[in-house]
Amino acid sequence: MSLWGISVLSKGSRASLLLVVSIVIVAFGSAAHARQRPGRAGELTSAEECGRCHQDIHRYWKASRHAQSSDSPRFQQAFLKAKADAGADPGCLTCHAPAAVYMRDTKWEKKTSWEGVTCDFCHSVRSIRAGADRPFVIEAGMIKTGPLKGARPTEHGAAFSEVYTSSTLCAPCHQFTNDKKYDVLTTFAEWQASSYPAQNMTCQTCHMRPTTGNIVDPKVARSATSSINVHEMPGGHSISELNRALLAQITAERKGDAIDVTVTVVNRGAGHKVPTGSPLRAIVMVVEADNAVGARQIATRTFGRVVVDGAGQELQDEAGVFQRAAKTVSDNRLAPGERKVERFSFPMPRTAPVRALVRFYYRYAPEASARPDPGTPFLSVSAWVNAGQ
Ligand code: HEC
Ligand code: HEC
Ligand code: HEC
Ligand code: HEC
Ligand code: HEC
Repeated sequence: MSLWGISVLSKGSRASLLLVVSIVIVAFGSAAHARQRPGRAGELTSAEECGRCHQDIHRYWKASRHAQSSDSPRFQQAFLKAKADAGADPGCLTCHAPAAVYMRDTKWEKKTSWEGVTCDFCHSVRSIRAGADRPFVIEAGMIKTGPLKGARPTEHGAAFSEVYTSSTLCAPCHQFTNDKKYDVLTTFAEWQASSYPAQNMTCQTCHMRPTTGNIVDPKVARSATSSINVHEMPGGHSISELNRALLAQITAERKGDAIDVTVTVVNRGAGHKVPTGSPLRAIVMVVEADNAVGARQIATRTFGRVVVDGAGQELQDEAGVFQRAAKTVSDNRLAPGERKVERFSFPMPRTAPVRALVRFYYRYAPEASARPDPGTPFLSVSAWVNAGQ
């Protein structure tokens, strides 16, 4: 059986699940009758409930974009626009509010629907059918799947699944082709085409690094390890991730009445293109030469993707991009490991020392009206050319 893009197990396997669930409930019902159960068949449980025991993980998740993917005003606004444009279900919720889709909560009556990519959605995934229309096989209830082998909590059932240490868990939401057959999101394919899979470096290796923390509140149970995987999933919104992604060098030399500036930039740290994901993301590189006594020259290069609809109109908002994008006009993003060399020549008198500087900005402009120019600064490097040289 399938509901709006998410598959549910057949009746037979459901019945056996119910049996397991009832055994678990009987097992801990008397000891913990005051507590709420962290799972009911067919119903995804709120992250707040998980946070009662998994406080440290909950704190990181709460700060993630995943936690805000359905209730952020930006998404809600874009969703309403997409709904109006499409005159039907625009399919956004499969990724942005997967719990609402799974529970068929079309009226947004359940708290979990507003929690975006929530704990119980990810940890009820039994398997992934890669490339299928309905890739997530979900089974909500008392059994949580995860990366731990041999965890035997009494609070809820647990089972190991290898999808948690594999990029295939992330793929269904981070790879997307729209009705125009246009590949809107290609993060997973970019990663697959890189050298990272061969090095066994998954999305989780970079976005869910291990850190010190309690898997579960020590008052509830003792875990075998004191390490958790960061659930904040930092990406382009994080300055330190951006600095990890790019390496830049600058050289400057005098050529007659001009200064020649060469900037080398390398994608050394991202497992996909920089930027990846939405075409509304860009890296803006601003290069300047300045002699501090009145001569100043500036040049800009933007690394990004420009996409248009079927009529050739450039798209500048997420609702438009997801629904109507039909063609890439240009794409000069940095592939994993790619090195780009950019050269500039600035007229500059010999009278004073000249400083050449390159600054990188991250620009994310999901609404045409709010395009921040040039964006959030991160990396910068500089070089000097002496007077007379
Ligand atoms: C009453 C306390 C409690 C609550 C509430 C709770 N858990 Fe747990 N959970 C545990 C304990 C204890 C473990 C075992 C930890 C260990 O062995 O290190 C655990 C383990 C896990 C694991 C690891 C399973 C594996 O095999 O990898 C996952 C995933 C998990 N919980 C998810 C959840 C989710 C999702 C929720 C909310 C729907 C939740 N938990 C609510 C106590 C709780
Ligand atoms: C986007 C999917 C996703 C969401 C949302 C998510 N998790 Fe996880 N979780 C994972 C993955 C993947 C791992 C394994 C990471 C690894 O081993 O590299 C994991 C690991 C865990 C573990 C095992 C201990 C650890 O840190 O590895 C627990 C317990 C857990 N998650 C609980 C939670 C709780 C509680 C929430 C909500 C507050 C949550 N998860 C939200 C995907 C998710
Ligand atoms: C159910 C769909 C879904 C799954 C599964 C999922 N994501 Fe996401 N992810 C999203 C959505 C939607 C957003 C955008 C949220 C927003 O900004 O509103 C997002 C955003 C992100 C970001 C962006 C952070 C930033 O700074 O912009 C990163 C990184 C990320 N996800 C990594 C992962 C990884 C790694 C996995 C697998 C372990 C994963 N995601 C699994 C839906 C998903
Ligand atoms: C080798 C490390 C590495 C791997 C592997 C990796 N990422 Fe990233 N990712 C980064 C870094 C660093 C950034 C920040 C630079 C940036 O914003 O492009 C980032 C940014 C992102 C963003 C924010 C979009 C953007 O460009 O700002 C998303 C979404 C994302 N990653 C998802 C994924 C997914 C999904 C996978 C697996 C298919 C993955 N990443 C694999 C390092 C990695
Ligand atoms: C296949 C999964 C998927 C679908 C379907 C999808 N999105 Fe997204 N969306 C994402 C991911 C992942 C991101 C994170 C950005 C990235 O990867 O660049 C995102 C980011 C966004 C953002 C930016 C959020 C922010 O605050 O930064 C908006 C707005 C948005 N999407 C709106 C929509 C709308 C409207 C639709 C339906 C027409 C839609 N999305 C369909 C996965 C999806």
